[in-house]
Amino acid sequence: MSSATTLRHPKGPHAARAQREAGPFLWAFLDSSVGSKILVALTGLALVTFTIVHMIGNLKVFQGPEAINKYAHFLKHDLGVLIWVARAGLLAVFVLHLGLAIRLKRRARAARPVPYTYARPVQATVSSRTMILSGIAVGLFVLFHLAHFTFAWVHETEVIDASGRLTRVNYLDLRYTMPDGTQVHDVYSMVVAGFTTPWLAVLYILAQAVLFLHLLHGIQSSFQTLGLKNNRFRGAIAGLGVAVALVIVGGNIGIVIGVWAGLAPPISVGL
Ligand code: HEM
Repeated sequence: MSSATTLRHPKGPHAARAQREAGPFLWAFLDSSVGSKILVALTGLALVTFTIVHMIGNLKVFQGPEAINKYAHFLKHDLGVLIWVARAGLLAVFVLHLGLAIRLKRRARAARPVPYTYARPVQATVSSRTMILSGIAVGLFVLFHLAHFTFAWVHETEVIDASGRLTRVNYLDLRYTMPDGTQVHDVYSMVVAGFTTPWLAVLYILAQAVLFLHLLHGIQSSFQTLGLKNNRFRGAIAGLGVAVALVIVGGNIGIVIGVWAGLAPPISVGL
């Protein structure tokens, strides 16, 4: 009787080799579906945190030009190199979130090329079934938003300058003089110019509806992936997810409609 036995890995002939080739833990973690899901959840919650902080900062528009212009100046100039670190971090988080989510979806499709006979599981909501689509739409909105406010490529505005003349200006040339005489970028007039333009206001409101659809499932699903949505807290976590989505989107729509309705009136600007 021969004593030579072929050792087979319990998960199949190629599993042991695959494991050896998987490399360092971080790569293996990123490559696994569980790791990807955890990272999609964590990056998603980081983006939600950014969106809440951003919305609260933007509400300063209703405190008047000095408040929001001082805040924007602090972020863009006083923070120095930190703002670039934050921007790079935000971009990395955004790319990871979208990239991993798309990869997970493709893997799930590849694992089940033939659809289920009953295509609509009872619990699947519109929000959960359209996550990739709504995520891509939110990404496109952010690109548009950057083109509109950060790069000022989309729209110009007409302002009455300090000498009383009506002048057409690029958003980035709008200037505000602070009480101490410092000239800063007039983010207040830029936001007012944006949301008193009907097509831009409508576009932003539509984008918030898509963001709501994405957040409605996204926040709850992140909690579930991280193990926070157990049986005991199921109802509370689901409620918290809906509440956070409503606060973000309600706040953003409130800014658009409030500015549109004249709660942040235009000011004369020094160019
Ligand atoms: C009504 C709602 C919103 C208003 C009034 C608003 C306002 C602004 C303004 C004024 C800026 C440019 C700041 C500057 O360059 O001085 C900005 C940048 C930005 N916004 Fe928004 N925003 C809104 C909604 C959102 C949403 C929903 C998202 C993401 C989902 C978002 C993501 C960003 C990002 C990523 C930047 C670039 C930040 C940077 O330059 O470092 N914004 N926003």
